Amino acid sequence: MKKLNINTTFTIYQQLSELPLAVFSLMEAAIKARNTAYSPYSKFNVGAAILLENGAIIIGSNQENAAYPTGLCAERVAIFQAGALYPNIAIKTIAITATSQTHKVTKPIPPCGSCRQAISEYESKQTQNIEIYFMGEEGDIMKSNSLSDLLPLSFDKKHL
Ligand code: THU
Repeated sequence: MKKLNINTTFTIYQQLSELPLAVFSLMEAAIKARNTAYSPYSKFNVGAAILLENGAIIIGSNQENAAYPTGLCAERVAIFQAGALYPNIAIKTIAITATSQTHKVTKPIPPCGSCRQAISEYESKQTQNIEIYFMGEEGDIMKSNSLSDLLPLSFDKKHL
């Protein structure tokens, strides 16, 4: 018997102004994208913005549905749009932010498990890490250097 120990280090920024300039702009795009969320059921507005290797920024917001599971998270709206518009361009960075129509969101909002799996597919396809920055409406901004840090032991095409 042996044990596998997986260590992960995240970076925590306390202010938007501490972010690298390109990431600050990306987070601004994600903040703007929150306003396009369609979230009449959860009243939770998520914005995501993706920076591609060619400099393009692709945004997404959560889109809900009366048949609840039919709705889609902001991150997947954005990453599928990036894949559809620029299938061969690498993804560098994703910025995520959320607000609520009922309370102030002060904790960083990480991508859900399904979004991690979706992002993981793109990271393994491009063999280049995807940085992920996530925040609430205010407060700390967390950075993961790679999707694999958020989803260790992920299932991917090499398991098929
Ligand atoms: N949501 C996202 O957009 N991204 C996540 O990673 C977590 C959850 C959305 C889905 C739903 O519209 C609302 O937030 C509440 O779960």
